[in-house]
Amino acid sequence: MFRPLLICMGLLLVPAPAIAHGKATGIVKERMDQMVMLKDAMKTLKDELASGGAYDAARVIEAARIVERHSGQAMTAKFPEGSTKHSKALSDVWTDTDGFATLADELEAAAAAMATAALNGTTAPATGGIVSLFSAGPSPDELSRLHPFEAFKAAAETCSACHRKFRMKGS
Ligand code: HEC
Repeated sequence: MFRPLLICMGLLLVPAPAIAHGKATGIVKERMDQMVMLKDAMKTLKDELASGGAYDAARVIEAARIVERHSGQAMTAKFPEGSTKHSKALSDVWTDTDGFATLADELEAAAAAMATAALNGTTAPATGGIVSLFSAGPSPDELSRLHPFEAFKAAAETCSACHRKFRMKGS
């Protein structure tokens, strides 16, 4: 009768896949896992949307919601002051908290716009080209009326912009 329990425990003991951040623990590990989740969701979204044509709306909405849920305050909350052990976060995260939070919020807004665009079933072909943050490009509202690939590109740009400014180089 104990067998199911043993099997469950066995599954828990299966080592996690090797990852670059191996040594991190606690909140640093949590945010790294969260970032990896974002990366996987963005991969799904890119596969669906990069053609600029038809896409599986349900799949796009699901993945965009994952990005939305894990950005904004859900992201900044994972960077409490002093959480630097085995981390690649630069100290600017805690000296330019506004700049950091703005990028996390822009990611949330771009992901929400992407989900709305897919919900609207917007299929006008992606125009290519537009890769910009909101300050320079279309607003989230405009993005939600375009092909979701446009919002995807705005989201991807927030990832890169934040990493350029707030994460150590190299992996
Ligand atoms: C507001 C800033 C910010 C945004 C936006 C952001 N990141 Fe990050 N990301 C970071 C920081 C800082 C680290 C380093 C965390 C650490 O080592 O403690 C990081 C680390 C990562 C890592 C490495 C995780 C690991 O295993 O060590 C991946 C992958 C990643 N981000 C993907 C993404 C993707 C994909 C997006 C966009 C959908 C994104 N990030 C958006 C700041 C951001």
